[in-house]
Amino acid sequence: MKLGVVILAAGQGTRMRSSLPKVLHRLANRPLLRHVVDTSKKLAPEQVIVVFGHGGEMVPKTFSSDGDLTWVEQQQQLGTGHAVDQALPALADVDQVLVLYGDVPLIQAETLSSLIQAAAETDLALLTVELENPTGYGRIVRSAQGRVQRIVEQKDATAEELAITEINTGFLVADKKRLINWLSRVDNHNAQKEYYLTDIVELAVADGVNVKVAQPEDATEVMGVNDRAQLAQLERHYQQHQAKILMQQGVAFLDPSRFDLRGELSVGRDVQIDINVIIEGRVELGDNVCIGANSVIRNSAVADGVQILENCVIEDATIGAESVIGPFARIRPGTRLAGRNRVGNFVEIKKSIIDEGSKINHLSYIGDAVVGKDVNIGAGTITCNYDGANKSQTIIGDNAFIGSDSQLVAPVEIGAGATIGAGSTITSDTQPEMLTLSRSRQYSVKGWKRPVKKPKK
Ligand code: UD1
Ligand code: CA
Repeated sequence: MKLGVVILAAGQGTRMRSSLPKVLHRLANRPLLRHVVDTSKKLAPEQVIVVFGHGGEMVPKTFSSDGDLTWVEQQQQLGTGHAVDQALPALADVDQVLVLYGDVPLIQAETLSSLIQAAAETDLALLTVELENPTGYGRIVRSAQGRVQRIVEQKDATAEELAITEINTGFLVADKKRLINWLSRVDNHNAQKEYYLTDIVELAVADGVNVKVAQPEDATEVMGVNDRAQLAQLERHYQQHQAKILMQQGVAFLDPSRFDLRGELSVGRDVQIDINVIIEGRVELGDNVCIGANSVIRNSAVADGVQILENCVIEDATIGAESVIGPFARIRPGTRLAGRNRVGNFVEIKKSIIDEGSKINHLSYIGDAVVGKDVNIGAGTITCNYDGANKSQTIIGDNAFIGSDSQLVAPVEIGAGATIGAGSTITSDTQPEMLTLSRSRQYSVKGWKRPVKKPKK
């Protein structure tokens, strides 16, 4: 059966108290709507329509790279029934329509599949849950025989109906042709003067349809975001869920509740992650990688046996096997460490290629450099890569030794096996295997006397 998806995303989200449309607020650093769109695509639908309103073009613009979405504007928010009705003219040739919500981000594809399955046997299926406290939700009214009769909204319900604990999550699947017919018959004669999508249930029952229900695996899947507290709560749920999956894949967390993944992480065996680690974008960790507390790793590949000690920030970089990084190291975009490297505290490396075995242990800035194998860069070394207008490259040959507190003024090349005396400012290429230094000669003054304090008169 061909599936069409309609995502309702027109609400303003007043309680967020934000100028950003609600569905653009972020969960795990991705817009709420992004989660819903990506989940809907797992169902291989013919078409995904997003009904937007508040925030105008801002929402479609944010998703401009998704060429396969259809956008429908709902200028006035006259209710969920009205919102779905607006999408109908844009609907392709499909058999079933699934209604999703841009502010309910954690819904799982498996749950939606079971809802679609339930609808396959009939013309309307609802996703419902039992809640201890059903306040605020539409209630599922059933007949004495247990058949679904209709949905009554909180504001329209009698005291008896308010006691019902089976609630409407809002998610439903309907036969397209029947949905079009039912929506044409929905009015707004209710407490909120809204066109309720939920009113189609009663119409379906009147048409002789046996309305089916499905349930989510976990009630958090159907939780919506109305304010910042709910958003923060869902963020925690999401992160706990991700940590659980990673633990199933063999990751050792010192505390899974203090871990954030805002993207995709692939892991080898026996990866260990200390507290407050943030992983963003696409990150790969090889076997036996250890990540110290408070480190942030973004869009990077970290090979087998690497230790990232506490408080490191690594972005768009490749860290070769058996390297030790940090504590307090910053590895910036375009850096490639070949392996067995040591990058120590307060070292910044930008857009540089560092070959195997080379060490940069303390307090250095290495930018736009190509460093050979087994090079030792002493404490406080700076590549002066920027003249105020242009960036230039520093090349350092294999086995070179750069003495502490040296400045390498780029463009410059240090020959293989060269030694640079500590405190040198190197402005032209140096010969391989030789000692080069540029500091002034040391001398001592014989008979020099340290000044003494003049006696007070
Ligand atoms: C709706 C259901 C209720 C259910 C609850 C679950 C109806 C009439 N009621 O109530 O049975 O228990 O969801 O959370 O459907 N939206 C639009 N355009 C509109 C109106 C709403 O896009 O004109 C969007 C909102 O942005 C929101 C969603 O639809 O994402 C639900 O709308 P909302 O007004 O929050 O419905 P509820 O009153 O919560
Ligand atoms: Ca709501």
